[in-house]
Amino acid sequence: MNFKKELAALLSTSLDNEIPASELELLIEKPKSEVHGDLAFPCFFLAKTKRKSPNVIAEELSKKIASPIFEKIEVIGAYVNIFLNKQTVAQKLITDILQKKESYGALDLGEGGKVTIDMSSPNIAKPFSMGHLRSTVIGNSLALIADKCNYYPLKINHLGDWGTQFGKLITAYKLWGEAEQVRKNPIKELLALYIKFHEEAQTDPSLVEEGRKWFKRLEEGDAEALTLWQWFRDESLTEFSRIYELMNVQFDSFAGEAFYNDKMDPVVKLLEEKQLLVESDQALVVELTEEQLPPCLIKKSDGATLYATRDLAAAIYRKENYDFKKSLYVVGHEQSLHFKQLIAVLDKMGYGWAQQMDHVPFGMMLKDGKKMSTRKGKVILLEEVLNESISMARQNIEEKNPNLLYKDEVARQVGVGAVIFHDLKNHRMNDIEFSLEEMLRFEGETGPYVQYTYARACSILRKGQWQSELSAEINHDSWDKEWKVISYLMEFPNTIKRAFENLDPSQVAKYVIDLAQAFNKYYGEVKILEESAEQQAKLALTASVTIVLKEGLRLLGLEAPEEM
Ligand code: ARG
Repeated sequence: MNFKKELAALLSTSLDNEIPASELELLIEKPKSEVHGDLAFPCFFLAKTKRKSPNVIAEELSKKIASPIFEKIEVIGAYVNIFLNKQTVAQKLITDILQKKESYGALDLGEGGKVTIDMSSPNIAKPFSMGHLRSTVIGNSLALIADKCNYYPLKINHLGDWGTQFGKLITAYKLWGEAEQVRKNPIKELLALYIKFHEEAQTDPSLVEEGRKWFKRLEEGDAEALTLWQWFRDESLTEFSRIYELMNVQFDSFAGEAFYNDKMDPVVKLLEEKQLLVESDQALVVELTEEQLPPCLIKKSDGATLYATRDLAAAIYRKENYDFKKSLYVVGHEQSLHFKQLIAVLDKMGYGWAQQMDHVPFGMMLKDGKKMSTRKGKVILLEEVLNESISMARQNIEEKNPNLLYKDEVARQVGVGAVIFHDLKNHRMNDIEFSLEEMLRFEGETGPYVQYTYARACSILRKGQWQSELSAEINHDSWDKEWKVISYLMEFPNTIKRAFENLDPSQVAKYVIDLAQAFNKYYGEVKILEESAEQQAKLALTASVTIVLKEGLRLLGLEAPEEM
């Protein structure tokens, strides 16, 4: 049910079909204030072609368009303001949502095309950082939104599983490590070994040499080195998987940096053939002077390949294997230069599809205004954060609803949901101040608040014995009190569209907050369950709200318990 579409079609006809309805639709606004109606069409842009003042055009247009869904048309300056017929619109909209259920709001922007999403991508043998958490949460939501827009998302975990650090790690493990310890607590143990290596190396330079040797053996395929590397990788991944499971995030591929070991030579050759490689300080680089970027380092003087070279190989591999329509990289903004260079080099290689790539940057997670670093004591281990959040949610349940069934499951849904929502409710470029108390509040702009609103609406439906299907026409004399909620419900498809176009899940997060607040206000003012001729209409509206809230939360990666 798209009322904007209907208006756009009428406008297009009234303008002698000179401008397609699809273009006009994009210009239709939702007025900031209710007193200006439900839809507004600004006429400024027509003044030039029509050789008339925009106000006159607005006046003329307002006389030409008419529809049973319009109650009133008003002209204010250059704007045609439309007041929708509440009765007709409410009935149509609610019927539509109840019929479509969770597919309400689905769009066909992608026509089934693939979109690869490089996300999460933690580094093996190191703790999962807050930056990796942000990447996981944002990437997962973008994948869900993409899917809703009929793209086919592929979530790729580009693990940091190769590099000189593995030579150091193997050296440290052979000197001081114990298999049992690593198995018990892989990340903590491997990190400790890594830190010890650096401490000892300060007084014993031979360690550095030893580390270099082991990395060389690893690159040459030495069996012992490879076995240890594989084992570190497996153990780390097992630990990361626990986090992914808690958060209900799955991946389509774990092809990390190591996966491209044998795929970089062809890229370097190709760069040579295209005469893009230049020697500089004994290293090979691609100059990006025209692009006003620093040169992109392809091969170091010792022949070792770099992060950028792997990403070149990865981008080409993804295009060849997935034939993506879009390729996204959800990585912190401190890597913006890297991705600019990556895209610029691919462009220089003649790959037009480089334009389909997008870096999706995000800000930092702060603690007391400072960057949270993985080094030294500042580590906040993500798994601990999630578990802490879950146990606080559990406490909350004990206080508020001690008889609830499935307390553990609900506590997980709420605790994890709080962490995810806290991340997504602000535009991704903003830095976030980390605070568990803030995340778990049941009021204000939090995940638990929206989940709680959903559960409350579900409880109303249970008490009203709502049958999930409409049994009769929805009757209501006046939809005035409901109108705010209805106008939000109407906005859902547009919200999804904006969220995808701007790669910005916060649009959906803000939307579910708005809808939840509007519904709570309505619930405070109107007795939904009171016996009356309107009871079915009110329940039908409440049911629509549950469908949209649940779907909105799902698009953010949150679950919605029916009781909490
Ligand atoms: N592992 C990297 C890091 O932790 C992020 C990788 C991002 N993805 C990529 N294709 N470069 O910084």
